[in-house]
Amino acid sequence: MYPKTKGLCFNHFSSHPLSPARVLFSAFFVARPLHLALLCNSRTKASISPAASSTFVSRTRARCLPHSLLLPQREVTVKNIHCTGAKLAETDANVVEESLPSIPTTSSSSSEEDGEVPSSHLSIGHFKKRLRIADIKGGPKEGLELVGEQMMVRGWVRTCRSQKAFTFLEVNDGSCLSNLQCIIGPEAEGFGMIEAGSISTGASVAINGHLVESQGSKQKVELKASKLQLIGGSDATTYPVQKKKLSREYLRTIAHMRPRTNTFGAVSRVRNALAYATHKFFQDRGFIWVASPIITASDCEGAGEQFCVTTLVPNSTKDSSTPIQKIPSTKEGLLDWSQDFFGRPAFLTVSGQLNAEIYATALSDVYTFGPTFRAENSNTTRHLAEFWMIEPELAFADLKDDMACASTYLQYVVRYILEECKEDMQFFDQWIEKGIIARLNDVAEKDFRQITYTDAVDILLKAKTNFEFPVKWGCDLQSEHERYLTEKVFKGTPLIVTDYPKEIKAFYMRQNDDGKTVAAMDLLVPRVGELIGGSQREERLDVLEKRIEELGLEKASYWWYLDLRRYGTVPHAGFGLGFERLVQFATGIDNIRDAIPFPRTPGSAEF
Ligand code: 4AD
Ligand code: MG
Repeated sequence: MYPKTKGLCFNHFSSHPLSPARVLFSAFFVARPLHLALLCNSRTKASISPAASSTFVSRTRARCLPHSLLLPQREVTVKNIHCTGAKLAETDANVVEESLPSIPTTSSSSSEEDGEVPSSHLSIGHFKKRLRIADIKGGPKEGLELVGEQMMVRGWVRTCRSQKAFTFLEVNDGSCLSNLQCIIGPEAEGFGMIEAGSISTGASVAINGHLVESQGSKQKVELKASKLQLIGGSDATTYPVQKKKLSREYLRTIAHMRPRTNTFGAVSRVRNALAYATHKFFQDRGFIWVASPIITASDCEGAGEQFCVTTLVPNSTKDSSTPIQKIPSTKEGLLDWSQDFFGRPAFLTVSGQLNAEIYATALSDVYTFGPTFRAENSNTTRHLAEFWMIEPELAFADLKDDMACASTYLQYVVRYILEECKEDMQFFDQWIEKGIIARLNDVAEKDFRQITYTDAVDILLKAKTNFEFPVKWGCDLQSEHERYLTEKVFKGTPLIVTDYPKEIKAFYMRQNDDGKTVAAMDLLVPRVGELIGGSQREERLDVLEKRIEELGLEKASYWWYLDLRRYGTVPHAGFGLGFERLVQFATGIDNIRDAIPFPRTPGSAEF
């Protein structure tokens, strides 16, 4: 029976995926980003000029992006953002006055006598975008348009070179790959610290000065300092990020310092741009972002690779010496899950898909973007125990729609970083993977290829390569097979393999009429192998129930998933993309542990 409204308490509504209270929840999900957009606009207006802010507001309002995505991007020019330079500060005050409602102020002394809050406590101040090196050097003339401007930059010293008359400090603030060269002469306040040797690699500094045309050929502009402040010193002899080339393996052992290197700075910025482009792609196409739970009682992929979430065993490092007898057990000597936090076994999610399906069968097109966890003991360059997954779920859609969505998405985000992260991409092209820009241009422009699993196996059987894992129909494709197909056979073009044997795929995939295969698709790319795994979902209640029984899964625990097929079922499809594999693919970084800030892998959870 379709869950009724009358006489049911709110708890019941919220626990049932098909309850009419979903109308209310749906509205919340649609309205939430809009609310955040408006909220954020009112904040950011304070720091950008009226002209810039009106473009910004209309762009973002139209898209209803979640608020974290609404920070002004680089098109807000340096003249509109405010640092500490006197000239710029004047306009700043004007902007603030024009764009914010005036707050009534109380006249000071009398109000204090009356027990009111003193006026000095009324104003919190407005957040202003700080001037960053990217704003200075990222303009059309690489900074020349700002020559003569007074400004202050803050960042970390990369190098300090003293010559006869001047000292050159290379400062980086992480906003872009480039450092800002600062020239400091004896007339500058704080020069004594250089003479005393206090300013060294790794130190944080603030430098005031004015921008001048550079005499050197490496950069168009540099900062002629009038004042140098040391914010935090750094002992150059022990600073872990020395100038010599450091191996990636070593840098993994200093994950708290590696973002200060060129490579990890560039990877972080490109990763950020990919995340932004992901939200933009889906939001622009009317998808609703859904937060799938991190703690779950179900195993979506059925592979038994979950991390258990429990308070039965010591749950803090302080209790790590708890004797085993203290762990609650039943009379039969089994773990007593009824005494556990959730009263049943619970796990970290391996995928948000099943939850996304709930929302897709109410809001039509949705996506999740969050962390997922797998306890597979794979020490490879493509596996992490904690990774981020993007999982769109499309209602009224079949496998063809799913493949179209996946390839259009991939081309979109690739185009986005080629356009928006030029400096970092050139760096990768020069130092990480020669030719990556041309490779990605091809991905963005050329049509992807598509073959069935059966045809792929035929190709592999005919291949003159000795694979470590032998191939036969019914086997799961290994990374070596996937790479052979996409690198050797299809010459670098992304390839979608469809219609896999049902035995090697998850229970929820839609069965094809041949009785042997399912409507699955994996998107394979060079170097990485499987980047995306997706399928059309089984929307037929009887077929799904039969499959759950065949696989010996506990049917009762899928009651809510089956309800989606019982009430208003629709053909639907979706996919999951491993975000770190996308970062690998887009940057040329060959180990997935370098595509995430803090990698979690077997035996490693430092930082
Ligand atoms: O192919 P998978 O297992 O598919 C699912 O989880 C589906 N529920 C997705 C869906 O249809 N909504 O995983 C999807 C992708 C893989 O293609 C791969 O890119 C990535 O997740 N992935 C991993 N990335 C890093 N480390 C691991 N251990 C990964 N396992 C999967
Ligand atoms: Mg897969």
